[in-house]
Amino acid sequence: MTTQQISIDYGERGTVIVVPDATALAELAAETLVSASAKATTEGRSALIALSGGSTPKKMGQVLASDGFRERAHWDAMEIFWGDERWVRLSSQESNAGEAKRVFLDAVDIPTASVHPWETEGDVTPEQSAENYAQTIVRIAGTGDTPVFDLILLGMGDDGHTASLFPGTSAINEKSALTLAHRVEKLDDTRLTFTPRLINAAASVVFLVTGAGKAAMLNEVLDGGIDVDRLPAQVVRPESGALLWLVDAAAATELDRKPIDV
Ligand code: 6PG
Repeated sequence: MTTQQISIDYGERGTVIVVPDATALAELAAETLVSASAKATTEGRSALIALSGGSTPKKMGQVLASDGFRERAHWDAMEIFWGDERWVRLSSQESNAGEAKRVFLDAVDIPTASVHPWETEGDVTPEQSAENYAQTIVRIAGTGDTPVFDLILLGMGDDGHTASLFPGTSAINEKSALTLAHRVEKLDDTRLTFTPRLINAAASVVFLVTGAGKAAMLNEVLDGGIDVDRLPAQVVRPESGALLWLVDAAAATELDRKPIDV
């Protein structure tokens, strides 16, 4: 599929790819999963992938379950996690994992054992759930002390949060844990999240940002002063991995920088 794409270089803050609309963004996001699984297959392993939450990834899920994609993805070479989760049952419409399963994972040939929702049910506490999730990630990654995800998808809220790293929360500055459970006063909610340490160890981090409502925040995160406590999305700086922002035209309207001459 050929979709008009404009690339804008933001240096160490990443590369922005602007596509016309949310459908084109969903298709491009789906391609990143297909590519990660294909690369892992050639290397005789599974790709470690973390999906983002919220509404944006749902359209990507529909694309992945569609005929044009479902047979291209190497579902047997993916281990699927979530970069964050709400403290709700999997059956809740607020559940990032629950919604992804209902939108596409339950409709494709991915082994059940390769889909790893955070534990949010039973007698586990949020803190234990976060610790259990970190142990599962380390076990499946089988690597050194900081697991390396092949691909971490992230969203960005209009308040500059990403994953469940919300403005003014200490989770933004967590240096040792890989995952955290924390109370987000702003939401009056308990959230589970990857920490910057785990996110920034990834081989590739891809933000998915759509809609005019995020245009001002996107420009500030990308081009404004660094203030991670106020703009948590700025804490995402992969140590050595790639940082990409897939953005639709509506969310790109306030970007000050101009496209790379192609
Ligand atoms: C969550 C998400 C969160 C989300 C952003 C963007 O659990 O809500 O992980 O970080 O990605 O809020 O959400 P939308 O895509 O719905 O705008």
